Amino acid sequence: MSKLTIFLTGATGYIGGSVLWRLLNHKDASKFSIKVLVRNAEKAKLFKPLFNVDATVGSHADHDKLESLASEADYTFATADCDDIGAAEAILRGMKKYKERTGKAAFLIHTSGTGVLADDARGMFAYDKVYDDSNVEDIESLAPSQIHRPVDIAVTEADKAGYAKTYIILPSTIYGISKNRLTEAGIQNPHSIQLPMLIRASVDRGQGGMVGEGKNKWPNVNIDDQADLYIILFDKTRTDPEGTPHGREGYYFGASGEHTMLEVCKEVAKSLVVLGKGKSLEPTTFTQEDLDKYFNGSPYLGSNSRCIANRSRSVGWKPAHTTSDFIASIRPEVEALIVRDQGKGYVGRADGGKSKN
Ligand SMILES: NC(=O)c1ccc[n+]([C@@H]2O[C@H](COP(=O)([O-])OP(=O)(O)OC[C@H]3O[C@@H](n4cnc5c(N)ncnc54)[C@H](OP(=O)(O)O)[C@@H]3O)[C@@H](O)[C@H]2O)c1
Repeated sequence: MSKLTIFLTGATGYIGGSVLWRLLNHKDASKFSIKVLVRNAEKAKLFKPLFNVDATVGSHADHDKLESLASEADYTFATADCDDIGAAEAILRGMKKYKERTGKAAFLIHTSGTGVLADDARGMFAYDKVYDDSNVEDIESLAPSQIHRPVDIAVTEADKAGYAKTYIILPSTIYGISKNRLTEAGIQNPHSIQLPMLIRASVDRGQGGMVGEGKNKWPNVNIDDQADLYIILFDKTRTDPEGTPHGREGYYFGASGEHTMLEVCKEVAKSLVVLGKGKSLEPTTFTQEDLDKYFNGSPYLGSNSRCIANRSRSVGWKPAHTTSDFIASIRPEVEALIVRDQGKGYVGRADGGKSKN
């Protein structure tokens, strides 16, 4: 019997590596043929000998490669840059070719983020609206100008057109240091985005910081729970493709708890004091200069994103972690980043802080 072909983008990333690791350890792994597109040639070389994964060297700008790999895949997991519309369109073109060749719609499990719900609160208030992923009207009420929305809409349209079955996973603030053989081999980034950016900015200024008064609220999810959701959804589509909501109904929030930014920023500030890297237990407001230096000028960390993951839970997702686990994860994350960044000066994200959850 031919193997199930799986194409995954973002394999060297925090989410993508965690999902790949689960696919490699899946009970049906021997029936999978896994392909990845990786832009780091040195890392790409390691996939075959260490994990029996076929790696093509290329970036998201190589639309021909994305299209070709997606055109051969029964399943595509997209876990790289969720705002790259050109890359998403290339994957969808490939999926269209797959449909023309096989007569069947291939499956796309795409990564977005609950940043799509973000407002411009600048840390000054929490909004009341709690978005529900099982409520199609909630999702469709989102302005097309919201971040992630242009790609999400293109993905959903492909399902409507009938050539792809699409599922969009929207992680929130993912936390926890990922640990598996991909991270140990130096292939996968073990750290998340939002909390590490906040920590690195706070370490650099020698003081925990926040946007405005930190009154805004965000959901959170542990990396293991988050990666499990991809696999639970993947398994459900394989056993019950018709019964698994997709397209306009196929939005799945990755959220199992909620925090105010103040709670998080206080814990960062406290951790810095305990570790001899911070002046005060109380976080101070980031100045515009700070925002420019650490967050690409954006007060995004002061936004609200509030949601409930009813759709995700309806397919059997049972996240094990809570907000207390998130808060408890902050000190070890601060310690790990201090060690990791030692002697490197301020370490920001390669994209200058543009990535959004
Ligand atoms: N982490 C979160 O809390 C969170 C929450 C919601 C949404 N998201 C979104 O989910 C996506 C993945 O996040 P992550 O936390 O896994 O980030 P990450 O650790 O930085 O991983 C990103 C992955 O995508 C790859 N990639 C990025 N741009 C690429 C390009 N132009 N061409 C080829 N590969 C490219 C990276 O490759 P390299 O290794 O070569 O850099 C890496 O494998 C992002 O769009 C992020 O905004 C993340």
